[in-house]
Amino acid sequence: MSIQIPLATASVETAKTVLSLRNIHTYIAGSHILQGISLDVTEGQTTVLLGRNGAGKSTTLRTTMGNLPAAQGSITLDGHELRGKPAYFAARQGVGFVPEDREVFVSLTVEENLKLAQRGGASRGAAGIEQAYTLFPDLRQARSRSAGAMSGGQQQMLAIARAMMNRNRVMLVDEPTKGLAPVVVKQLATIFESLRDEGETILLVEQNLEFAARVGHRFYVLDEGRIVHGGRMDELTRDPELLRRYIGV
Ligand SMILES: Nc1ncnc2c1ncn2[C@@H]1O[C@H](COP(=O)(O)OP(=O)(O)OP(=O)(O)O)[C@@H](O)[C@H]1O
Ligand SMILES: [Mg+2]
Repeated sequence: MSIQIPLATASVETAKTVLSLRNIHTYIAGSHILQGISLDVTEGQTTVLLGRNGAGKSTTLRTTMGNLPAAQGSITLDGHELRGKPAYFAARQGVGFVPEDREVFVSLTVEENLKLAQRGGASRGAAGIEQAYTLFPDLRQARSRSAGAMSGGQQQMLAIARAMMNRNRVMLVDEPTKGLAPVVVKQLATIFESLRDEGETILLVEQNLEFAARVGHRFYVLDEGRIVHGGRMDELTRDPELLRRYIGV
């Protein structure tokens, strides 16, 4: 008689960790902001980082990129150390970043923004631009318009498209739904579902729980610079007490 291994268990056993943070400590202006963050981002999955305002979510992403120095700990991409390297290093190694403030060049056109985001050997070239236009038809239509003339939602889409211009191992995305109308949030959810279905590896900071539950496989909750909980996304949505305690919903 053969023994049946449940599929979920099998996939967990074979899952590969792409990005790993271990005991990361970060100080900003003398304040101890991240106090020993450890987390793993699994290949082909969307891992969601939740937590209240000021919990340290953006600091975690910025530290991973090398935009803020980690005072202690280890940040590895496919087992290679990123900590202590200059800010451009993580990008060159295949970490895409969509920062909280989007950082599109408002005086340039949409297409110029996409072309400028392409990084030498890692660039996906014209195929990358074409894929972005397929995923975001609004951007194709606005390709010759200045990015500054676009709505907040379109600028967010452009920021995500910019991160997709290169062959990434993992994409870090900081609160893409922030300040956007519900109809745009729905559009973005569809985008993140297709990225997930295409097997992109994503670390997503998100406070919109409905959005997070729709697109995420796993979650971590950050509170006052520490990871206080983690697990499968469906475990979180079934635990109202956990949601109330750490996320305030
Ligand atoms: N440039 C800075 N100078 C001083 N303190 C800062 C700076 N940037 C962040 N902090 C502090 O670090 C802590 C974590 O901030 P962070 O931006 O990582 O939080 P967050 O979880 O992303 O919050 P939000 O949901 O509001 O984006 C906060 O207490 C914040 O006040
Ligand atoms: Mg933030």
